[in-house]
Order: sequence, then C-alpha cells, then structure tokens
Amino acid sequence: MAVITIDPSWLAECLALDRCALQGLWTEEQWRRELEDPRRLCLGWTDAKRLLGVACGWLIADELHITVIAVDPSVRQRGHGKRLLSALLQQARQQGAIHATLEVASNNLAAIALYSDAGFQSAGTRLKYYSDGSDALIQWCRI
Ligand SMILES: CC(C)(COP(=O)(O)OP(=O)(O)OC[C@H]1O[C@@H](n2cnc3c(N)ncnc32)[C@H](O)[C@@H]1OP(=O)(O)O)[C@@H](O)C(=O)NCCC(=O)NCCS
Repeated sequence: MAVITIDPSWLAECLALDRCALQGLWTEEQWRRELEDPRRLCLGWTDAKRLLGVACGWLIADELHITVIAVDPSVRQRGHGKRLLSALLQQARQQGAIHATLEVASNNLAAIALYSDAGFQSAGTRLKYYSDGSDALIQWCRI
C-alpha cells in the first residue's frame, strides 16, 4: 500500500471511487480537469490493485485549496485519510504553500474530526451552501 501521485491514467479509478465514497460528486469532465491541471496536486492511496483513497488540492499563490479527500468505505478508520491529508499538505509545503483551506459540511463529523486532528480551524460559515441545505464550514490551517 502506498501514497502515489495520480495522473489522468487513473481517471476510471477516480470515477469508481467517487461513486462509492462520494455518491458521484464529480463528473468525468471534472475529474479529468482535476487530474490534468498542472497547478493541482492529486494523490492516491492504492494497494496496487485498486484506488482506495484520493486527496486533491489546487495551489493558488501560497495557498492550497483542498478540493476533495475521500477513502473507500470498506477501508475507513484505518488511518488512510490521515496519511493522504498529511502527504498532500507536505507536497503543498514543498511547493511553497503556507496555508491550506477547504470547505466541509457542518454535519460531516468524520471529516471535521480529520481536519481538526491535522490542525485546521473554522474561520467562517457559508449558510445553506450544499444542496441538502447544510452549511459549509470554511477551514484554515497554517502548514
Ligand atoms: C473523511 C474521510 C476521508 C476520513 O477517512 P478515514 O480513512 O476514515 O480517516 P482516518 O482513519 O485517517 O481517521 C483520521 C481521523 O479522522 C477522524 N475520523 C475518521 N472517521 C471518523 C468517524 N467516522 N467519526 C469520527 N471521527 C472520525 C478521527 O479523528 C480520526 O483520527 P483517530 O483515528 O486518531 O481518532 C472518510 O470518512 C471519507 O471518505 N468520507 C466521505 C468523503 C468526505 O466526506 N470527504 C470530506 C469532504 S470535505
């Protein structure tokens, strides 16, 4: 098992993981853009057969905007999310990022705990930001 940089050759695996871990959050076109854009960092967690997790972000000046982090439901709560997030923050730091930011649904307790564990703090709320009416917490971390 290893954290690796993923490129467009992982498109089908990303779509499969998105379907099972994120209920189909992004379209094929959105994943293709994420994997092709040189300003984006995309890491995968793989057992050599399957993509079991993914963490991506966008480098804008000295900020990393985390766009997605997801782990296959069958292997959650084994530290893979933590490993992926930590590797993403490390790569961003190496490329000059000083801060990381993201939005997380206020009812997503697992993700909020993961980010809080990594040092993220809430810096504001976007009310009724998601389609189910839940709020988004804006989180920041100095990396
Ligand atoms: C959020 C997610 C990526 C966590 O992945 P994971 O591999 O299960 O996380 P880890 O095992 O590395 O756990 C890291 C920390 O997160 C927290 N955590 C993870 N799952 C949790 C849960 N179900 N309940 C409460 N805290 C949880 C804990 O603080 C944990 O640290 P600990 O094990 O030392 O207590 C995973 O639940 C997921 O893919 N969720 C669906 C996609 C999603 O919501 N992504 C975030 C969008 S902003």
